[in-house]
Amino acid sequence: MKKPWAGRFTGKTSKAVEHFTESISFDRRLWKYDIEGSIAHAMMLSKQKIISQKDSSAIISGLKNIAGEIEAGRFKFTAELEDIHMNIEAALIKNIGDAGKKLHTARSRNDQVALDLRLYLRAETKEIISLIKDLQKIILNTAEKNTGIIMPGYTHLQKAQPVLLSHHLLAYVEMLQRDKERFTDALKRINVLPLGSCALAGTSLPVDRAYAAKLLGFKAVSENSIDAVSDRDFAIEFLADAGMLIMHLSRLAEELILWSTEEFSFIELPDAFTTGSSIMPQKKNPDVAELIRGKSGRIYGNLIALMTVMKGLPLAYNRDMQEDKAPVFDTADTVKACLTVLVQMMPQIKFMRERMHEAAGKAYSTATDIAEYLVKKGIPFRQAHEITGKIVRYCIKNKKQLGEISLAEFRNFSQVISKDVYSRLSAENSVNAKITRGGTSPSEVRKQIKRLKQLIK
Ligand code: ARG
Repeated sequence: MKKPWAGRFTGKTSKAVEHFTESISFDRRLWKYDIEGSIAHAMMLSKQKIISQKDSSAIISGLKNIAGEIEAGRFKFTAELEDIHMNIEAALIKNIGDAGKKLHTARSRNDQVALDLRLYLRAETKEIISLIKDLQKIILNTAEKNTGIIMPGYTHLQKAQPVLLSHHLLAYVEMLQRDKERFTDALKRINVLPLGSCALAGTSLPVDRAYAAKLLGFKAVSENSIDAVSDRDFAIEFLADAGMLIMHLSRLAEELILWSTEEFSFIELPDAFTTGSSIMPQKKNPDVAELIRGKSGRIYGNLIALMTVMKGLPLAYNRDMQEDKAPVFDTADTVKACLTVLVQMMPQIKFMRERMHEAAGKAYSTATDIAEYLVKKGIPFRQAHEITGKIVRYCIKNKKQLGEISLAEFRNFSQVISKDVYSRLSAENSVNAKITRGGTSPSEVRKQIKRLKQLIK
């Protein structure tokens, strides 16, 4: 098959080189964007009278036919034609003849591939933003339905203070909100038209870049043709935002794994989202959550991969940049899959109210409430902390919970303690007292829910 760039060559490309350099096996998925971009380009060329109206129409209908063939699975992609751009262009020329040869006027594959990737990432980013929103809504809904559940809050994975389960869940909604904002912000930089930059220098032909941008829904045109064909920072930014997102999803997954253990027993995962063991009949494994946690490795790896591809490249385009696609595609597919499965799994998780509540009151989790009680009685905090520490030590030694020692015993540690101390010791009272803005009291958590519901529509 004759290559579009064959003119300068006398010898044939070696099969091994064709196999080594081709990208059609993976960039074929850009076909829709490639055609969309080419149609806009053809419209611009005829509007500018660079090609005739007739040729432009022939090109556009030819491209639409090719789209139909690809969609129907009838199009024959070939590695001899390297990539998606040349596969489509060659088919166009074959189908419509000479007019097809005019499509690549005032264009290079360098600005073409940058365009395709931007169109692809714009669509993927929007999809991811919408999936994040779905997940937020599900978590928010779960939080709203379970405002009555108290659980232990942890630091260092040691019981720290009782909190509301809803409050804990809302922390993820906040993280996801920032993830969404990051992707939304990245869209600003993705949504820039590189077309017209051609190979690197621009063109002597009278193109109308603003018109092409308008046709393709781009908010801006790139300002420097060398930059436009040589940077992939918009893709790297996408990969970094995905890295942050998967880090959050991985933490959520880790908690689901931990909470579903016999040791925690805070939740029960739905059968549909767990798997059994081939040898241990009793097992119910949280594989879905584990895989979400595990996939974070690939997502981080993809970011490092593309940063490394780019770091030593002299301006402008270099073939190294073809290596941008595998990490970008993999990351987009992977985060979408993780979000989709979480959206389905989250509403089916059963929270074990009694068990969580019981755990919340254990391990002297309301000791800080005693210290704050002492502060309210006029004791400096450092001293109150020490007194409470001694009370806890006394309880541990005598195998008692805080609520199980007598007032006389309490007063051995501080004379300011009176009967009302007992009202501070339950997990409920501890939670109810945390009325700081953003704190864990039911009234504050209700405000957080209200705010987030308005934010996430
Ligand atoms: N397949 C190439 C890529 O993905 C398209 C651009 C090729 N440009 C070139 N000058 N060889 O980067």
